[in-house]
Amino acid sequence: MKIKILLGGAVLAALSFNALGQGTPGPTGQGEVSYKNDVYPLIYDYCLNCHSPGGKGYNKSGLDMRTYEGLMKGTKFGPVVKPGDPETSTFIMLLEGRANPALRMPAGINGSLYKQHITTLRKWVHQGAKNN
Ligand code: HEC
Repeated sequence: MKIKILLGGAVLAALSFNALGQGTPGPTGQGEVSYKNDVYPLIYDYCLNCHSPGGKGYNKSGLDMRTYEGLMKGTKFGPVVKPGDPETSTFIMLLEGRANPALRMPAGINGSLYKQHITTLRKWVHQGAKNN
């Protein structure tokens, strides 16, 4: 309960910060992570090869990450992003190797994503996975 209140405060603070037009603090600061500027470029670099039509990941799971809508729609079994809840979002669990160690994304790339990238994606989900 307490955590939720704190979180709400953080999101509100981030929102009003942006509303004041004081610039974008970026994913490493206290500010809001942007889908367009922070999240999509990572997806583009690390995921789209396989997660767009014709790719292995798309063919097997149905997850098409070319658009925000595609990402939020998830796989043929359902959503992989739960806004506000990185702990149970498959999208984050797979990156952190928590779902199934054999199924770590991006698949087939040694060492997977850099920690700071995962932190950015996790933060974005935490902040509500907005199309911002
Ligand atoms: C080399 C190809 C490849 C790359 C790159 C890749 N994936 Fe995947 N992904 C797959 C395959 C194949 C599956 C289906 C796995 C299965 O069902 O056995 C999959 C499935 C998934 C799933 C759904 C798992 C489920 O619940 O069924 C998610 C979420 C996912 N990938 C996220 C990502 C993210 C995020 C990235 C980029 C950081 C990424 N993938 C990069 C191949 C890839």
